[in-house]
Amino acid sequence: MTTYQDERLPVPTPWRLIRELKLRRPPWWMVLALIVAVIGTWIPLALIYQARSKDSQLPRVHFFHDMDKQAKFTAQAAHPWFEDGRAMRQPIEGTLARGHLHHDAHFYDGYTQDATEGIQFVTALPQQVAVDATLIARGHDRFQIYCALCHGASGTGDGLVNQRALELKEAKWVPATNLMTQEIRDRAAGQLFQAIRDGVRNMPSYGAQITPHDRWAIVAYLRELQSTSPVAPPITAPTATAPAATPP
Ligand code: HEC
Repeated sequence: MTTYQDERLPVPTPWRLIRELKLRRPPWWMVLALIVAVIGTWIPLALIYQARSKDSQLPRVHFFHDMDKQAKFTAQAAHPWFEDGRAMRQPIEGTLARGHLHHDAHFYDGYTQDATEGIQFVTALPQQVAVDATLIARGHDRFQIYCALCHGASGTGDGLVNQRALELKEAKWVPATNLMTQEIRDRAAGQLFQAIRDGVRNMPSYGAQITPHDRWAIVAYLRELQSTSPVAPPITAPTATAPAATPP
């Protein structure tokens, strides 16, 4: 039997093989089934394309509901059970949630208050807070997260939010105070603490985000930062530099 090698024919291609070996063509239904199967694989792709490119009024298909959809009363919702119709209930009078008895004014408020002397800011950190390297490091950490965006990492008021507001020429922007001035250095520790807890004028309150201990840590860090930074010139109020009003 002669082989391809003997006849020095070129290397066979599949098509030539089929022709020369007289292989049977696949039956028509097999070809048809293959074409249908291939086109069938395009259907999911077409559906995905359609879903992605068209708007629909229907909510999305949600296979696993997890806890997204459940019977519950959301904030400020009405509740038929109560006389005042509110689902959100007030704490029962004369009770306190566990851990919310803030009876230590020095630690929780930063000031003491009495009828004769009024508000007295504390000048020292409370005894529960030991000033050491760990506390300063914690204060530094919290300051970077909560304060540096406005007051700047150096505390001089050049934080990114401040820079951006100046760039946008925000007419109503009150710059974050330079915390390195003598005025802020002379502030009682308790007043800095209270500024963090309650906010000051245009500065929002950070009492909800920062625990009392962390607020004291920030105060301790601020003191550390002040003692290692040069004293900034006093802040001149905008009214002081503004030209005097001219009579009409
Ligand atoms: C969203 C920006 C912003 C953040 C964040 C912010 N501050 Fe302020 N802070 C201000 C502005 C603005 C003022 C000036 C408020 C004014 O005079 O109306 C201010 C003022 C102050 C003052 C001076 C208060 C006074 O009595 O004059 C202190 C102290 C202070 N901030 C500390 C902090 C500390 C500590 C943090 C971090 C916990 C912090 N701030 C976070 C914007 C900010």
